[in-house]
Amino acid sequence: MPKDSVTITDNSTGKTIEIPIRRGTHGPAVMDVSGLYKNLGIFTYDPGFLSTASCESDITFIDGGKGVLLYRGYPIEQLAEHSSFLEVCYLLWYGALPTKDQFEKFRWIISHHTMVHEGLREFYSGFRRDAHPMAVMVGVVGALSAFYHDSLDIRDERSREISAHRLIAKMPTIAAWAYRYSRGEPLPYPRNNLGYAENFLHMMFSYPSEDYTIKPVTAKALDLIFLLHADHEQNASTSTVRLAGSSQANPFACVSAGVGTLWGPAHGGANEAVIKMLEQIEDVKNIDKYVAKAKDHNDPFRLMGFGHRVYKNYDPRAKIIRKACLEVLEELKVDDPLFEIAMRLEEIALKDEYFIEKKLYPNVDFYSGIIQRALRIPTSMFTVIFTIGRTIGWISQWGEMITEKVQRIGRPRQLYIGEAKRDYVPMDQR
Ligand code: CMC
Repeated sequence: MPKDSVTITDNSTGKTIEIPIRRGTHGPAVMDVSGLYKNLGIFTYDPGFLSTASCESDITFIDGGKGVLLYRGYPIEQLAEHSSFLEVCYLLWYGALPTKDQFEKFRWIISHHTMVHEGLREFYSGFRRDAHPMAVMVGVVGALSAFYHDSLDIRDERSREISAHRLIAKMPTIAAWAYRYSRGEPLPYPRNNLGYAENFLHMMFSYPSEDYTIKPVTAKALDLIFLLHADHEQNASTSTVRLAGSSQANPFACVSAGVGTLWGPAHGGANEAVIKMLEQIEDVKNIDKYVAKAKDHNDPFRLMGFGHRVYKNYDPRAKIIRKACLEVLEELKVDDPLFEIAMRLEEIALKDEYFIEKKLYPNVDFYSGIIQRALRIPTSMFTVIFTIGRTIGWISQWGEMITEKVQRIGRPRQLYIGEAKRDYVPMDQR
């Protein structure tokens, strides 16, 4: 009997099979159940994929118990302190940290892909002004595939690389325009002499009629937010991108599917939901009432920005962004009653038995909502900013998936619990 295996017996038939165990670099081993159906005629059932590894990957690793997050093996704390979002993009896409020359070339390429086709610009006028910017993102990102036909050959390495460059470079332009359009303002062209975060701020807030000065603290904080959101292994939106890609859809279509998934309040939409929740709480004196609501199973209210599927001790990104958040609040001298509510809520929830027992710690979205508000980013743009950061993760995971030796369309199975086979009844006999 092989040492690294699990024996499974179907007690109804007495049939026994060996399931091989596979071990990665870090993290729990996996049972390779790919032969289970063939050998035992049984599927596995795992709603929400609580126990299922959907792929092999060498991009990102999370240890939720220990609060570890590694991009290509590098701890997030070290990258947050010493690196930049663009360097992390290089790392995630190419698999290694760049040399100085490689990085300069990469930076030049990204800054020279920031413009979008003029025809795409006209798309914006078709949206209602009050459309949520994420709705615009889903549409415009998907539409990229209608404009960049020359990089749609998913079997060609250079095509894939150009698509990745385009997505990283154009996402801030598309995102900032979604905001400017909602305000009836001009859609500013990118400025290639600016850094990645600075250029985004320029497109978000500058006016052709006056000079716009970017505060270094604001650009630095935004770059950190992008970096912390760059990848998070097989989360809902990334799994969506992989699943879409498994059908051999083009990368722009796959990433737009990821944008749609990220929008949900249980995923990337949580940072926006945090601010809405703080506004709903309204006053420090109401916190106890809302904490009680969050604990009541008959009440759908949840403390937004608390809890995580994977991190059960703390979210390492939250620890980093919390520190940055306090620095930004201090440096920008922001006076906002919502911050008082947020800090008090954090304090109460961290001491409350319910939250301690269920390991519900503040996650990255709790602080990213607060820091973005301090940076005067409009609430409706919070998830859009997450989208800009996560684009590199999506495209890197897509690139990994599309170059796997064995290409199979993602096709989960199900446990059918509907009606047994029955005969059609003509309408006049029902
Ligand atoms: N407030 C109150 N109770 C909660 C919360 C919360 N925020 N989160 C989980 N619980 C309770 C939940 O009711 C359940 O209780 P019980 O075991 O008694 O039924 C228990 O904790 C486990 O919850 P779960 O929903 O089974 O956990 P999950 O791993 O499926 O969900 C989550 C994780 C993040 C969706 C969830 O914690 C949540 O809805 N949090 C609020 C939304 C949020 O902040 N999302 C951002 C996640 S981080 C960014 C990202 O990676 O996308």
